[in-house]
Amino acid sequence: MNKGIAIYPGSFDPPTNGHLDLMERGAKIFEELVVAILRNSEKSPMFSVAERLEMLRALTGHLKNVRIDTFDGLMVEYAKSMQAVCILRGIRAISDYEYELQMALMNRKLEPTLETVFMMPADKYSYVSSRLVREVAQAGGPVKGLVPEIVEQKLREKIDPAYKFRDEPREIVPEIIGGREKKRKKRA
Ligand code: PNS
Repeated sequence: MNKGIAIYPGSFDPPTNGHLDLMERGAKIFEELVVAILRNSEKSPMFSVAERLEMLRALTGHLKNVRIDTFDGLMVEYAKSMQAVCILRGIRAISDYEYELQMALMNRKLEPTLETVFMMPADKYSYVSSRLVREVAQAGGPVKGLVPEIVEQKLREKIDPAYKFRDEPREIVPEIIGGREKKRKKRA
């Protein structure tokens, strides 16, 4: 185990099984891993920062040396304020490399003492991204196995708010249709 704190920054909108896989790997290597959600992203997110914070906390409860936090502004400034020794990022495929290299070198230029460490999630998650998960879920497709169950549930609720109440008991109320009373189920 490496001494010191590592920061795993990202948008996590939503967290995927690939993210979780990387957190589990990172937690084995670093003394402490801080998963840091970017607050001031230009993108309009599907989940609020509070929702992502809640999901990530629930997902990492079993990882005692993993902490969830949020940050604003420059990531290296946040990392310095946390006295982190390195930044952890995941690389799934060669297509990630160019963007990640650019970001790692920019971060090194901004803060030369901070190293970026790349890790690979399990190959079964190599095609999984938050963007594609959102796209599939929004189009009504299945995301089972791509995201943890808690996230799957939250995605369903986000896309169909009525889903949240599907198991709640319904009150039977009479409805008058064409002068005749018809029993109708009403959501509680
Ligand atoms: O999950 P993402 O969207 O790929 O994460 C990108 C993130 C949040 C790591 C990156 O955008 C970031 O660090 N933003 C903070 C602003 C910053 O420091 N920019 C300079 C990095 S080159």
